[in-house]
Amino acid sequence: MPKLTPDEHGQFKLPPDFLNRRRLDPSAEYWLDERDGDLILHPRRPDARKLYIEVTTACNLNCVTCIRHSWVDPAAHMRRETFENILKGIPAFPALDQVILTSFGEPLVHPGILEMLEKLKAMNLAITLGTNGFLLTEKMARELVRIGVNQVVFSIDGIQPETYAGVRGAQLADVLANIERLNQVKRQAGAVSPTIGIEFVAIQSNQAELEGLAELATRLGAAKTVVSNVLPYTREMNEEKLYGYEPAPPFKTIGYPVRSDAWVRWGVTELPRMHWGAEQHCKFVNDYSIVVGWDGGVTACYALSHSYKYFTVDGVEKQVNRHTFGNVNQAPLAEIWMSEEFSRYRSEVRAFHFPSCADCDLRETCDLRQNNEACWGYNPSCADCLWAQDIVKCP
Ligand SMILES: C[S@@+](CC[C@H](N)C(=O)[O-])C[C@H]1O[C@@H](n2cnc3c(N)ncnc32)[C@H](O)[C@@H]1O
Ligand code: SF4
Ligand code: SF4
Ligand code: SF4
Repeated sequence: MPKLTPDEHGQFKLPPDFLNRRRLDPSAEYWLDERDGDLILHPRRPDARKLYIEVTTACNLNCVTCIRHSWVDPAAHMRRETFENILKGIPAFPALDQVILTSFGEPLVHPGILEMLEKLKAMNLAITLGTNGFLLTEKMARELVRIGVNQVVFSIDGIQPETYAGVRGAQLADVLANIERLNQVKRQAGAVSPTIGIEFVAIQSNQAELEGLAELATRLGAAKTVVSNVLPYTREMNEEKLYGYEPAPPFKTIGYPVRSDAWVRWGVTELPRMHWGAEQHCKFVNDYSIVVGWDGGVTACYALSHSYKYFTVDGVEKQVNRHTFGNVNQAPLAEIWMSEEFSRYRSEVRAFHFPSCADCDLRETCDLRQNNEACWGYNPSCADCLWAQDIVKCP
């Protein structure tokens, strides 16, 4: 640890080997912060790597699991001007190479989705699209292949038609036919992308069907399958959740063969944790992600991107309020990313500087907790976050 001695004007110089090791430009700027008696320097660097864009909050389905049963936000499409402002901001981030279009709406209902995908692809970004799959017509499949979308993740929450319909209120056969047609279009075009992913949100009523997921993934040629637990936005879903405060048995690991060109590879299944108590680790912040909502509002993650109620791991109903760090229609994306508030928030999340509400004696009655705040640390609070426990997952 280098010792820093101030000069006669009280100024410090950061040693060159420290700057080299951290790959910091000698002219880099910093925010100077304090935490628990320590001084902290947050480098002001445009080092975001992943961009999540919520192209719409509208949807053609009304799944029982969905946040739309709990939020107060409007159903609206992203405006062209907002999208263009995001595009303008991207070149300022040299390491940004992935864009994920999903969040809390159905991206394929946006009338400009193909134009958006095309413009993102022209910026040399790897694109993942998360969809319920119902609007994936043959024409849409051809366009996704032509544009070179890298991955399409389909939500499939049941293997039996009646189970799937119980969650999604729609016909499983329709989405399976659309996925198979996408595969056919890929074969005809000799294309390997988009690769297929599956996301399955496990609840009591579909849990038994997890066993059939590997076989379905093989049939659909899905390179990746993600199983998540449900984030309970309603009392009904709180009753259906499978994880808990106490240790619960994990889901069985499911590996499966998947054909890719002339090769057969092994498909990957990611499983969620089943009980509280992991060391908290925020995938959004630790992956250097930015989330931009339909109206251009910039947040750190999905959890803070809307205002809604949900039930914590121990069943306390809490209100989350949307927390933005700026809006792309008012400031460049890189300025928002490097702002004092956003830089400090990411640092608080990386250090997980929040109290452990789920273990606190006051947890059932604490007003702060019920409003997603905390008695120490930086607000909004991540203390109860189910994503940070890897109990809830996303692709
Ligand atoms: C909100 S949807 C938006 C994209 C698209 N409409 C879809 O359903 O795939 C994004 C992902 O969240 C999942 N999801 C929905 N409700 C959830 C919940 N309560 N907890 C965890 N994941 C959920 C969906 O299954 C989907 O895979
Ligand atoms: S399709 Fe996606 S956004 Fe639409 S209701 Fe279902 S989970 Fe929500
Ligand atoms: S905010 Fe503080 S007092 Fe309230 S539940 Fe969390 S740890 Fe306990
Ligand atoms: S820990 Fe949870 S609430 Fe906090 S930034 Fe990460 S995803 Fe968002």
